Amino acid sequence: MTASSKEAITVEVHLAAGGAAMAHEVRLGLTAKSKELPPKYFYDERGSQLFERITELPEYYPTRAEREILTNRSPEIVAAAGEPGTLVELGSGSAAKTRHLLSAMREVGCLETYVPVDISEEITYETAEALIEEYPGLTVRGLVCDFEHDLERISSEGGGRLIAFLGGTIGNLYPDARRRFLSRLAGLLEPEDRILLGTDLIKDRARLEMAYDDSAGVTAEFNKNVLLVLNRELGADFDPGGFQHVARYDAEEAWMDIRLRSLVDQSIRIDGLDLTVRFAAGEEMRTEISSKFTRERLEEIYAEAGLEMSGWFTDSADDYALSLASKA
Ligand code: TRP
Repeated sequence: MTASSKEAITVEVHLAAGGAAMAHEVRLGLTAKSKELPPKYFYDERGSQLFERITELPEYYPTRAEREILTNRSPEIVAAAGEPGTLVELGSGSAAKTRHLLSAMREVGCLETYVPVDISEEITYETAEALIEEYPGLTVRGLVCDFEHDLERISSEGGGRLIAFLGGTIGNLYPDARRRFLSRLAGLLEPEDRILLGTDLIKDRARLEMAYDDSAGVTAEFNKNVLLVLNRELGADFDPGGFQHVARYDAEEAWMDIRLRSLVDQSIRIDGLDLTVRFAAGEEMRTEISSKFTRERLEEIYAEAGLEMSGWFTDSADDYALSLASKA
């Protein structure tokens, strides 16, 4: 790599010591009346690999649908967003899908800066280095942080930004947390900024439930992986074989409700928390919700957060949507 290309990258790291937060969150979740675990702990190395396999399953349509939209419609999205100079991406990872947006921006000559925001320092560096090679002249200003806590750090950029939050991750937040997150994001927007948000859409129950309970059992393995993470990180003694993967669509809440059901009466010891937790046979512990939306509902959600929808792009099957929004 040349010296000048190196200068095109800066990466700021703002990570608090993670261990204490995890212990606190897991204790809260396991001692609650309805047991629950925070979904972010799915994604250790094995969990990330399993999720990667989920995205390739025939039953799991969201990743393919989102890719289809970005592949076919990025030029339209960039035009509708007012040809922004900066692309900010929350949860950027390897930026596989993002390249469609960056290329569309380069095509019309507006591309200047990419701001990947991710919890993993390693992947942010790797992605930054790959992108400045692929997009000569691009400035990459990476932010390594938990954007649910450190969202305000993205505000150091100027106006004319497209802030992308892809993958349907907004659906994994409870309605309260979602409202708070979108309101905070709205508070950071300049009038010319746009948000690009990926959301899965409501469809028939059978297809939704299959997407979260595939025939090869990859999703079940992914769900149970969180127990192995707790065993390793907190010295717990979960036996994944003592739990069953459960994925139900709750039509009232419009979310997939993903749980682990204890197959037997059992006591789990968690040394790192100095805690013993009892599970009754049949007792369920929620590990994730994944909300599904309609265009109308999303318009309301934006309005409640002080935002206004200004664009709507779906895949050919109308399974998934990318929407644009600006400050109302
Ligand atoms: N955020 C993804 C989604 O809501 C994650 C996911 C896919 C997931 N399959 C899962 C999470 C099964 C828990 C269990 O689609």
